[in-house]
Amino acid sequence: MNASPLQPAQTQDAPVGTTLYGGVTNRRVTVRDLAKAKRNGERWAMLTAYDALTAGVFDEAGIPVLLVGDSAGNCHLGYETTVPVTMDQMVMLSAAVVRGTQRALVVADLPFGSYQESPAQAMHNAARLMKEAGVQAVKLEGGERSARTIELLVDAGIPVMAHIGLTPQSVHAFGGYPVQGRGDEAAHQLLRDAKAVQQAGAFAVVLEAVPADLAAEVTAHSAIPTVGIGGGPGTDAQVLVWTDFAGMTAGRVPKFVKQYADLRATLARAATEFATDVREGTFPGPEHSFS
Ligand code: KIV
Repeated sequence: MNASPLQPAQTQDAPVGTTLYGGVTNRRVTVRDLAKAKRNGERWAMLTAYDALTAGVFDEAGIPVLLVGDSAGNCHLGYETTVPVTMDQMVMLSAAVVRGTQRALVVADLPFGSYQESPAQAMHNAARLMKEAGVQAVKLEGGERSARTIELLVDAGIPVMAHIGLTPQSVHAFGGYPVQGRGDEAAHQLLRDAKAVQQAGAFAVVLEAVPADLAAEVTAHSAIPTVGIGGGPGTDAQVLVWTDFAGMTAGRVPKFVKQYADLRATLARAATEFATDVREGTFPGPEHSFS
C-alpha cells in the first residue's frame, strides 16, 4: 500500500521527562504521557481488567494503561459475546478497577447500544463512566462511522480511545471474528478509519485483527499511538485480554494471544487439593485452628 490518507498531526508536550515504565510513580499516567511515548518511540503494554484485585496486580507490575473492556461480557460475566453487556455493569466493573489502582490510566469501554443512538446518549453514558466510575478515558468502536461521536466527547473534555478493524460489538454483522483489512478496498477503509478517528481527536486507536503490514503502515502515518491486538509487531502498543494472557480462558484462544501463565491449571490444582484435604480431614490442621 502506498497512498495513505493519514497525515501526522501535532501533539502537546507531556509534563514529565521519564518513561512510562517506572517513570511515573506518584500520579496516574495521562494521555499526554502516551503522546510523548509516541514521539519518543516508546512501546507500552495495555491489559484488560475487570476487578480491583487483578487490576492492582497489573498496576503494581507497571502496566501503564488498563482497559475495562466490554470483553468482560465473555471473559468475566459468562456471556457468549460482548453484546449483552450493560452500562450498569460497565460502571460497576470500572469503579472497582479504579479503586484497585493508583498509577495506571484506566480506560472503560462504552458497551454496545450505549453510544450509537445519538450524540446525547454517548455523552450521557461517557459522563457516567467518568463521574460514577472515575475512569480517565473511554473507548468506543468504529472509525468514520463514529468520528462525530468521538469529536463531541473530546470537545466535552473526555479522552477517547478509538477501536477499528475487528470490532467485536459487530460480531453478528461480521458473522464471527474474521481478520479485517485484507484486500485493497478494505485496507483503504482501515486507513480512512484511522485518519477519521485521529482527526476527531482520539488520543489512541486500537487496531484489532488486521494484517501486520497494514497495522505498521497505519502506525507509521499516525500521530496518535496505535494499540495492536492481532496487528503484529509494528504498532506502538499491544493489548491483551488478561484472562487470555494469563491462561484462564477455557479452550482455544485466538492466534494472536501469547499465554504468559497457566492460571487455570494452577487454580484447578489448588481447588482439587483443598477438596481432598477437607474430605480426608487434613484441613484445617492445628495451625489453622484457634485454642
Ligand atoms: O473489550 C476489550 O477487551 C477490547 C480489547 C480486545 C481491545 O476491546
